Amino acid sequence: MSKNAFYAQSGGVTAVINATACGVLETARNHADRIAKVYAGRNGILGALHEDLIDTSQESAATIAALRHTPGAAFGSARYKLRGLEENRAEYERLIEIFKAHDIGYFFYNGGGDSMDTAHKVSQLSKSLDFPITCVGIPKTVDNDLPVTDVCPGFGSVAKYIAISTREAALDVRSMSRSSTKVFVLEVMGRHAGWIAAASGLAGTTPAEPPHVILFPESPFDERAFLTRVKHSVERYDYCVIVVSEGAKDQDGRFLAESAARDAFGHAQLGGVAPIIASIIHEHLGYKYHYAIADYLQRSARHIASRVDVDQAYAVGQHAVELAIRGENAVMPTIVRESDEPFQWSLGHVALSRVANREKKMPRSFISRDGFAITPTCRRYLRPLILGEDYPPYRDGLPDYVTLKNAAVPRRLKTDFVLT
Ligand code: F6P
Repeated sequence: MSKNAFYAQSGGVTAVINATACGVLETARNHADRIAKVYAGRNGILGALHEDLIDTSQESAATIAALRHTPGAAFGSARYKLRGLEENRAEYERLIEIFKAHDIGYFFYNGGGDSMDTAHKVSQLSKSLDFPITCVGIPKTVDNDLPVTDVCPGFGSVAKYIAISTREAALDVRSMSRSSTKVFVLEVMGRHAGWIAAASGLAGTTPAEPPHVILFPESPFDERAFLTRVKHSVERYDYCVIVVSEGAKDQDGRFLAESAARDAFGHAQLGGVAPIIASIIHEHLGYKYHYAIADYLQRSARHIASRVDVDQAYAVGQHAVELAIRGENAVMPTIVRESDEPFQWSLGHVALSRVANREKKMPRSFISRDGFAITPTCRRYLRPLILGEDYPPYRDGLPDYVTLKNAAVPRRLKTDFVLT
């Protein structure tokens, strides 16, 4: 008997989250005997709570295929965390009401650690409220901090963008260092884990090659050691390229760039550590500097996505549907590394309870003893993830990205839901 499916994108988006959506939708269409229609949540889980569902069956096969090369979140994403069942039962009852009203039997939730927690709670709800729904979390986060899976789709592409940008900007700084800028600071994302900052290390292979300094959230900031390192680089090479993670912390574990703003998950809004680092250098060493905050440029850069990442993003979407059809409930597809060279990988899965709300930081063995560089072990892990290109088609000199119709599913319930 066939049932409808609900699919939602959640949290910060990536260059390849729509490739996962493409994997989900194409695979579901191939199993029309089990999955009648896929309804997407407009703006993530909020779409379910507000009964604002998108009928993906209205999109042509060509449009769905074009999702594979289109960045952003095609259906809209949200940072909204469902609280515990005891704390806010009304939200869960509302979800059940929506699922019942639209004959939904499958729940696919595409996000990071917080989203896997939401997916896990929905699967628990299914048991405690006695409403059968097959629930599969699908991994996605540029932060690469979900445990168990070898890598999180989205990371390989941001890693490639940052490694390329570091290499290119470094050539620029080097060109004028004799008479002008000596220091370039690039700020990258990664709230608690330094995976993206580490990826910049792929730009060079010797100490002379940039980046000369990487600042990880995992290594508390030691101002004196840092300034010594910068001075040494400028004296030796005439310039210094620094890559700093937005999550870099001081010796007491406080973010160097914490602001008072919080998101819906209670996380501090970060961003702005690059100017702090640049001014420390200027104050103590007097060097002329430039800095850049890669911000959304890094996680939207589909034009230079990693082919491995695009393939893996599609594959986890496809596998999620296959797992659900097999009756696997409360699980997340994982990427399993079979070998580094040649790079080979396969797909597995893990219980959501093992990944929800857990963060995978960089292992100590991936960071050099002085805390400012990556180790050969880390390089071996990162290298295959940025391999290959998967250029989108271009029109009039620009990538030709797709926009969906996103037609609304007619509402069946009389009342809207008020978020508390
Ligand atoms: O999703 C992860 C992430 O990209 C983090 O690296 C970053 O700190 C955060 O999202 C930014 O979130 P938002 O776009 O909601 O401000």
